[in-house]
Amino acid sequence: MKKLIIANWKCNPEKIIEGMKILNSLKGLVDGKNKVVICPPSVFLGQFLADFGQDFTFGVQNCYFEQKGAYTGEISPKMIQSIGAKYVIIGHSERRSIFKENDDEINKKLSLILNETNLIPVLCIGENREEREAEKTYQVIARQLMNCLDNIPKEKLNKIVIAYEPVWAIGTGIYATEDKIIDARNSIVKILCDIYDKSIENKINIIYGGSVNKENIDMVINGCKMDGVLVGGASLKPKDFILICNI
Ligand code: 13P
Repeated sequence: MKKLIIANWKCNPEKIIEGMKILNSLKGLVDGKNKVVICPPSVFLGQFLADFGQDFTFGVQNCYFEQKGAYTGEISPKMIQSIGAKYVIIGHSERRSIFKENDDEINKKLSLILNETNLIPVLCIGENREEREAEKTYQVIARQLMNCLDNIPKEKLNKIVIAYEPVWAIGTGIYATEDKIIDARNSIVKILCDIYDKSIENKINIIYGGSVNKENIDMVINGCKMDGVLVGGASLKPKDFILICNI
């Protein structure tokens, strides 16, 4: 089974030429065993698709919950689809904490993506450090899933990728241990079975994000049996990212 390896470049690199260099370094060295998706800053996408559209699948890091109109600075799911990207990350913890996005907005984005495009949404959920220490992880991800999936029918669930990204593991170098990742995976499956029913149990794609690197990728993929990973920092280092992609 192919694993899904998503690169979230976040607001990096500063110049398009540096992004081209990274893609050139990856080209030909990613062996195609897994599905690799690059999510660069959207402003680079047009050029990247023109130059590397044959080599990589591309996605974006966010979208708005309307298709068009007077929403200065926003980009819509249809625009993303029309340019040739295939994936869209929504609800990333940086969007939630820095840009104050809430579950209700994320739910609107998810509905619009699923109802009006063929894009694959990557829905990020995860607890922060205080919530983890207060042993509230299960409640937090249950609340996020319930709210973000409100009114999303069961039949659409297999089109969604759920990314478990504990906030305390993002960009910190402190990754979740095998037992924590397996625990979160089991919790997500149980919560979704409670929201929908048992029939969805084997139809959910769950990936992990948070300080994934070339050393821990084997543990995440083979130890925890995750369907893939969402990689931040290490996805900007070609040598490391190639090792991650070829797991
Ligand atoms: P890091 O891999 O840098 O921890 O970032 C994870 C992340 O936020 C991916 O979306």
